Amino acid sequence: MVADTEAVLKTTNLNVFYGYSLAVREVSLDIFKNKVVAFIGPSGCGKSTVLRCFNRMNDLIPNARIDGKITFKGSDIYADKVDPTDLRCRIGMVFQKPNPFPKSIYENIAFGARLNGFKGDMDELVEISLKKAVLWDEIKDQLMQSGLALSGGQQQRLCIARTIAVKPEVILMDEPCAALDPISTLKIEELIHELKQQYTIVIVTHNMQQALRVSDFTAFYNAEATNKKEKVGYLAEYDKTEVIFQAPTQETTKDYVSGRFG
Ligand SMILES: Nc1ncnc2c1ncn2[C@@H]1O[C@H](COP(=O)(O)OP(=O)(O)OP(=O)(O)O)[C@@H](O)[C@H]1O
Ligand SMILES: [Mg+2]
Repeated sequence: MVADTEAVLKTTNLNVFYGYSLAVREVSLDIFKNKVVAFIGPSGCGKSTVLRCFNRMNDLIPNARIDGKITFKGSDIYADKVDPTDLRCRIGMVFQKPNPFPKSIYENIAFGARLNGFKGDMDELVEISLKKAVLWDEIKDQLMQSGLALSGGQQQRLCIARTIAVKPEVILMDEPCAALDPISTLKIEELIHELKQQYTIVIVTHNMQQALRVSDFTAFYNAEATNKKEKVGYLAEYDKTEVIFQAPTQETTKDYVSGRFG
């Protein structure tokens, strides 16, 4: 597939297992710099599983194992010399449920930065990160209040600010709006538009309209039963978002994006 920017993440023949069970098979896809990629598809087809491989979050799940290859800017992210904690700073993650630390708004951002050895002007970092997450104007007078006292949408933007503060290159988002109301959701979508000037974003979403609104590329995952009767996820089709939604090559993609699935 052609894109006007380089591939930052390259996945080749990725298989992911939980114990003996193959969850997703033979995923090969490139993720391009400063683009937004949406992962869509029915529940259980492996979207979160693949997403978590990009910053080795699956390392934290006992029994999870991969084969195949993922490179980030040309280097194998599963090579022995890679420190997963460093990798997770460069490839940050935002989850479905906003999960601020039970600390002040200020500390939510300062904490991770300090852990990562940040020695610069912390006040400035907090301000810049909150501005980039389009939260600053709303909360600049209450920085010492608990992050948990914010609304769900504000908490999610705080989590995005916290991710940005450690200066990632890629941001992974697993259904970041699933717990949010429509207005907060639109704010996050606007934010994603802003962020892609500077970051590469992969977002999992069940919301087709959201995939259409925010993404440049869309990966449609599906699952099918094998002879062992277990469902195994796979990447069914990957293309520019307009192609996936208007002229997909697979019949199943067409059914899914038009809501005629299953
Ligand atoms: N921690 C785990 N341990 C064992 N199996 C798991 C684990 N996480 C996911 N799986 C299995 O892997 C497969 C893919 O799950 P995954 O969560 O990646 O799907 P998904 O596409 O993100 O689904 P959803 O849309 O519901 O979030 C499923 O069969 C699931 O049961
Ligand atoms: Mg998921």
